[in-house]
Amino acid sequence: MPASALSARRLSSFPADAKSSFAADFVAGLARRPRRIPPKHFYDAEGSRLFDRICELPEYYPTRTELRILADHAPEMAAQIGPHAEIVEFGAGSLVKIRLLLDALDAPRRYLPIDISGEHLNASAVALRADHPDLIVQPIIADYTRPFALPPRLDGTGRRIGFFPGSTIGNFDPDDALAFLTQAGRLLRGGGLLLGFDLVKGPEVLHAAYNDAQGVTAAFNLNLLARANAELGADFDLDAFDHAAFYNAPLRRVEMHLVSRRAQSVRVNGRCYAFDEGETVHTENSHKFTLDGLRAMATQAGFGVGPAWTDPERLFCVHWLTAPTA
Ligand code: AVI
Repeated sequence: MPASALSARRLSSFPADAKSSFAADFVAGLARRPRRIPPKHFYDAEGSRLFDRICELPEYYPTRTELRILADHAPEMAAQIGPHAEIVEFGAGSLVKIRLLLDALDAPRRYLPIDISGEHLNASAVALRADHPDLIVQPIIADYTRPFALPPRLDGTGRRIGFFPGSTIGNFDPDDALAFLTQAGRLLRGGGLLLGFDLVKGPEVLHAAYNDAQGVTAAFNLNLLARANAELGADFDLDAFDHAAFYNAPLRRVEMHLVSRRAQSVRVNGRCYAFDEGETVHTENSHKFTLDGLRAMATQAGFGVGPAWTDPERLFCVHWLTAPTA
C-alpha cells in the first residue's frame, strides 16, 4: 500500500479560512502560558506527507493494527450497520479504511466523506466512484470539529452511520471529545458510529511510537515551526528546538512538545516572543482509552454500547456505538 494512501488527514491545499485559523491559533497559542498550538495545524502539505510516513513506521502500530482489525472483522461490522446505509466519515482523507468497510456492506447507498482539504478529497472521491458505481459519493468540505450541516436524507436509505477511525478522537481534549460525540449523536440519530481508538498500554510501546528511530515524528512536530516560518513570516531556527514526546500516565495521554534549547526570542507576524531555555510549546495530546473509559464517555454523549473488536495484543479498538433515537 503506498504511503500516501494511509493519510488520515491531508491538507495539501488549504482553503483560505484554514490558513487564517492557523495564523490566529498560532499567535494566540504563543501568547498563552503554557504555550499551546492545536494539533490540527500539523497537516499542511509537508505535515501530511510526514504523517503518511509515520503511519508506515515499524514503531507506529495504530494504523496497521486498525487496518488489520477492519480487514478481519468487516463482515461483523457490516452486520451491525445493516443494508442500504449512508456513511458519514469524519476527517476522511484518502478513503483507504472506508474501502474495507464498503466491500463488506450490503448495498451501501451514499457515502459522505468530510474533510477540510477539498482538492484531495475530491480526487479520492473520483477513484472511489469508479470502484463503487452504485454508491453515491458526496464529499463535504468542512472542518468537522465545528458545527456543520449534512444534506437531507435520501429516500430509500438505511441508517445513517458515522465512521471515525484512526484514534483522531484521542487528539481532542476530553471536553471537546464529549462535545464532538454529542454533535455526532445528533447527526447520526437512529443509526450508529464506528469509532477507532487507541488503547492504554505500556509506556515503552507508546514512547517508541512517538519517538521513532528515524526521527520522522520529530520532523512532523518541528514542521509546525517551518509552517509558521513559511506562512506567518516567523523566524524560528528549527535547530534551536527539540522534539519531546512522553506518556503522561495519570492523564493517559502521549504529549508532544517543542522544547527551546536555549534562551531566545522569535518574531512571528511582526511580534517578538521570548523563550527561556527548556520552555516548551505543547503541540499535541494523544489520549489513550480503556474500554470502560471510552464507553462511559460515549454513554454520556447519548450513545449505546455495541460490540468492540480488538487485535490479539489489545493495542487498538474499533467500537460499534448506537446513536440516540430521539
Ligand atoms: C492523527 N493522530 C491520531 C496521530 C496520533 O497518534 O495521535 C497523530 C500523531 N502524532 C504523532 N504521531 C502521530
